[in-house]
Amino acid sequence: MRVGYYQFRPHFGRMSHNLLTVTTALRAAEADLIVLPELAFTGYYFRDRAEAHRLAEDPHDSPVFEALKALCREKRFHIVTGFAERSGERCYNSAALIGPDGVLHIYRKLHLFHEERHWFDPGDVPMKVMSIPGAHIGIMVCYDWAFPEVARTLALLGADIICQPANLVLSFCQDAMLTRCLENHVFSVTANRYGTDSRPQGKLRFTGKSQIAGPGGKRLHRALSQRSELFIMEIDPVQARDKHLTPLSDVFADRRPEWYGELVR
Ligand code: ACM
Repeated sequence: MRVGYYQFRPHFGRMSHNLLTVTTALRAAEADLIVLPELAFTGYYFRDRAEAHRLAEDPHDSPVFEALKALCREKRFHIVTGFAERSGERCYNSAALIGPDGVLHIYRKLHLFHEERHWFDPGDVPMKVMSIPGAHIGIMVCYDWAFPEVARTLALLGADIICQPANLVLSFCQDAMLTRCLENHVFSVTANRYGTDSRPQGKLRFTGKSQIAGPGGKRLHRALSQRSELFIMEIDPVQARDKHLTPLSDVFADRRPEWYGELVR
């Protein structure tokens, strides 16, 4: 299965421009699954909730979604992309799985990072794993990396590949995802953005270094920091279904959930 990411630099608030950047790059891709960054079309550093709500997409009525659905139909591939989701008065930091048959799932970020709590409502739908040809797909968004429960839940639900749209400003995530992949024996694709959002309230610089990691906690590829990159590689998602660390040690079969009550109290 050919999986990858597109690392690029969205321009804040320039939806059509960002959409054109994405569709132009992806039209040249030969892939089965491509992950795009968090908030790929709006940019990240909103002034306030009203601005996030104004720029957000209703997936049922959105030129961005129409274009992405058409692209997936044309290319016969799947995309996981971050986007700002408007749902009535609510606004979420979401990620959609889109394929040739349309939108398959929308994940709403559970763990809002830093100022995001001023712009978005926290996620309110259960985590879910979706099947596409060749793999079972789980989705998390950026700061969810800091909560091992997210990757573990997705893996227990059967995910072979965790797709992670990201807008990282810190440097811990990529190394942490190696551990998430080791302890859950899954693949991960982290699609980060780069560049800067310069806004009246300040500036944020994003760190790139998008990454693909494998079940042994192996880094399979990492992008440079401040460079656009469409990267696709061949993986075998079936490798994620064997949870053995040694012939006698299986990281799923050896779990002792009856002793983990504190985790969910
Ligand atoms: C983040 O969650 N965008 C750091």
